[in-house]
Amino acid sequence: MTTPRSEDYAQFANRYQDRLPGEREVAAIAARYFPEFSNVPGTSDVVYKPVVTPDGDAAPKTVPNREASADAGRTSGLYVGEVPLERIRADFPILSERIDGRPVVWLDNAATTQRPNQVIDRVSYYYRHENSNVHRGAHALAARSTDAYEASREKVARFIGAPSPKNIVFVRGTTEGLNLVAYAYAKPLLRPGDEIILTLLEHHANIVPWQLIAEETGAAIRVAPVDDSGQIILSEYARLFNHKTRFVSMTQVSNALGTIAPVQEMIAIAHGFGVRACVDGAQSVSHMPVNVTALDADFFVFSGHKIFGPTGIGALYGKDDVLESARPWQGGGNMIADVTFERTRYQAPPQKFEAGTGNIADAVGLGAAVDYVSAIGMTNIAVYEHELLGYGIKELSAIPGLTLVGTAADKASVLSFVLDGYDNERVGKYLDETAGIAVRAGHHCAQPILRRFGYEGTVRPSLAFYNTPSEIELLASSLLELTRKI
Ligand code: ALA
Repeated sequence: MTTPRSEDYAQFANRYQDRLPGEREVAAIAARYFPEFSNVPGTSDVVYKPVVTPDGDAAPKTVPNREASADAGRTSGLYVGEVPLERIRADFPILSERIDGRPVVWLDNAATTQRPNQVIDRVSYYYRHENSNVHRGAHALAARSTDAYEASREKVARFIGAPSPKNIVFVRGTTEGLNLVAYAYAKPLLRPGDEIILTLLEHHANIVPWQLIAEETGAAIRVAPVDDSGQIILSEYARLFNHKTRFVSMTQVSNALGTIAPVQEMIAIAHGFGVRACVDGAQSVSHMPVNVTALDADFFVFSGHKIFGPTGIGALYGKDDVLESARPWQGGGNMIADVTFERTRYQAPPQKFEAGTGNIADAVGLGAAVDYVSAIGMTNIAVYEHELLGYGIKELSAIPGLTLVGTAADKASVLSFVLDGYDNERVGKYLDETAGIAVRAGHHCAQPILRRFGYEGTVRPSLAFYNTPSEIELLASSLLELTRKI
């Protein structure tokens, strides 16, 4: 491994001195980027501690070798809201896992997040003390598991500002939720020539189900474009509506670019045309407070594993009337009120959409994940991450030959980039092998938006609230080192 030349290194280190804003600036950032959150109950008491220690002890002291990466989780003086980052990181056992002698530097949070002990232990407790099928048994364990499952539904409802747990359907994840909305709600509305509006920011899970139902019904898909920063052009989006528009589905945060789309405005525009709107929250719920009632979303979907919960579980929110009018998603036990061979009557939502035995333990685990982030405070998480992202943008921008892909003013978590002369996979492998940094390299299941910028793939570090400025420094210095290796 080569060492950066000392004068370059000094220059590199100097840039860290003026890098992070103080408390007042952060409050201003919070107000600018998250004004709607000030009305969300429980988020007005944002207490923020600056992430730079008073003595400015944040510059990298070593090049990215084994010792440097061992230090990458450095947390001294860092808080997310009131909670010391050190305590948060201690909750995530995998962050102390050593691979090839180094701790994991997990910058692949857009693909999946890591789980805290609180979630791991809750799932384990369920299997040890509560396991039973739900809703059906006349015994104590059935009551325990049903209570735990339904309590989790209530937690999810509260977490996203849904009026009632009845508006929450447990699904396998975002992909299943979007397929449910497409097939059970939207498809029966579609006639040949009708139109569905999507945006160029969508990942494949919010493209392919709509293509499938469009093929089956003769409907067409129209796509809202983005500007050169990767932000939706609202006027162009509004121009797509006409008397044939039947449905809109949009991401709140782009998984490939990190753009935070103006979904509140987009929903208002859709409603102005009498069109219902679904929001894909897979990449937003873990980074910012979400209130589906304030957004006025008709549907909202997210995955448990992107918000520190288990895989194989997610939630679909729907307003009362859209859940009432949607057809069942799958048929089977649990979703029926009465069955004869002539006809079947269904349960009311949400059970109408939960055929068969669901993923009970992981639904309970999702409730624990929601409790975990709620205790830290989603606004606190948003503010900390916003600052960390700004730091990452600044550091990566300074690397020769590196181009950030997606530069919208409103962004969350994602630092997609390409490095001149380097294959994305090679960069990803280098980061993994030399510094233990995990990033995703490739098309991120979102080919159309990357092609809009002329790329087939990028390298994509993506942040969560347990990441540290030192990890960003390790990423930046590793990339700098790679560019010096030619
Ligand atoms: N949608 C996931 C990602 O962005 C899989 O990596």
